[in-house]
Amino acid sequence: MSWKESNLPPHVLIFPLPAQGHMNSMLTLAQLLCLSDFHVTFVVSEFNHRRLLKHTGTHSAFARYPGFRFQTIPDGLPEDHPRAGLRIMEIIQSLRKHVGPSFKKMLVDKDLLASADRRPVTCIIADAVLNFNADFAEENGIPLIYFRTISAAAVWVLFCVTRVAEANELPVKGNGMDELVKSIPGMEDFLRRRDLPSFCRVDNPNDPALHELIALTRQTVRAEAVILNTFEDLELPVLSNIRQHMARLYTIGPSNVLLKSRLEENKASSGSLWPEDRSCIDWLNAQAPGSVIYVSFGSVTILTRDQILEFWHGLVNSGQKFLWAMRPDSVDHSDRLIFESEQGIEGNGYMVEWAPQEEVLNHPAVGAFLTHCGWNSTLESIGAGVPMICWPFFADQMVNSRFVSDVWRIGLDIKDSCDRVVIENAVRELMEQRKDEFAERARCLAAQVRRAVADGGSSEQSLEDLIMYIASMIT
Ligand code: UDX
Repeated sequence: MSWKESNLPPHVLIFPLPAQGHMNSMLTLAQLLCLSDFHVTFVVSEFNHRRLLKHTGTHSAFARYPGFRFQTIPDGLPEDHPRAGLRIMEIIQSLRKHVGPSFKKMLVDKDLLASADRRPVTCIIADAVLNFNADFAEENGIPLIYFRTISAAAVWVLFCVTRVAEANELPVKGNGMDELVKSIPGMEDFLRRRDLPSFCRVDNPNDPALHELIALTRQTVRAEAVILNTFEDLELPVLSNIRQHMARLYTIGPSNVLLKSRLEENKASSGSLWPEDRSCIDWLNAQAPGSVIYVSFGSVTILTRDQILEFWHGLVNSGQKFLWAMRPDSVDHSDRLIFESEQGIEGNGYMVEWAPQEEVLNHPAVGAFLTHCGWNSTLESIGAGVPMICWPFFADQMVNSRFVSDVWRIGLDIKDSCDRVVIENAVRELMEQRKDEFAERARCLAAQVRRAVADGGSSEQSLEDLIMYIASMIT
């Protein structure tokens, strides 16, 4: 590439929604670009930056990439805002309102972040939910690439929600939840109303929040290109549909596996917002292969005390070993939850507040994952070849869990039921009765992941194409 010989490399500004799931996949992309000698400025909220410094010593973690640097911005929310559960949406609204002036100051007043050893910003890679970037990029003549951190399936469903509303197929007031949705091309045979993103469950089809979501998805086409954290073999039919609307589409997933394949020591830098409790790895080391179900509901889910107790009893009653990562802020109850039956589990369960999830999923002792089906968790499980029990909490997770159970057939979807008997039965089905069948399909899919990220594989090639595309912006 010509810039390698004579010039400064491309300088990419990466701007994720400041939430763990969104930051993880975009930090992975940042590392992949740095490995190709790009300069990256990674935008992070002051709030999260403090947490990164505290828990992961992130500056030293990223010091291995000379081209990487953080740029902090205020998120406009009070310090004690929970930034979890459904209130996660308030981060988007707050950024939209507050970030405009500071972003402009950061980019334009600072001459697009140029310095003696860094050229002005070549392009912005923004989280597609931060749609104010489109106006900004347009005004300043900077190419914009959107990163959608959700599955291609969820993108396509969101893209088609207008048709769904016009066909009177929205699950208005919870009616007809098990009816198939006929208005989304390619999904007519398996997607039910209850599998639509949670924001579609409205009181009336003119719900303003739903319409904002539709507008947000439709504006994705304003970007020059879109990056998705998926791979061709996993979502090919859906990707073909999306490509009719967004021609320049890069599929670089699972980006965490792609990154690992490019790192000699096989260990990516972590951007964890909670301290990882590694004692669970010692506990796993003492367990038999495939004997443990790992439980985690991601970085946003908030559970009620009753829900936690149903999961707890379901897991204990199944008789299987389990490792549960329960964030301190994931309990909808101010006191630390004391389990009535805690003493009764006789060493079957182990709990931490935050686990090194990728390492856990790749541990030989782990045989299944009880998950909320956040897209990162789903992909990490697919990459590790671990079957899933899916209990989606909100948003795109409803779509993902249906794909896990009915399209890829590597798990069970128990959405909308949080009952100890249902949970116990699902664990027994996945870990005992149909264990081999699920394990075999999950192994096959993990093998497809390895092919996608290997030399000449679809994700590896797509990343190379993306790198060439960005490099072409400066030549
Ligand atoms: C949510 C959405 O569900 C997701 O689909 C969307 O794209 C982003 O917002 P979240 O709840 O954060 O995501 O779930 P997920 O996408 O699965 O991301 C959670 C991340 O935290 C994963 O990368 C996971 O490895 C990590 N994690 C979780 C840990 O490292 N340790 C834990 O104990 C729990």
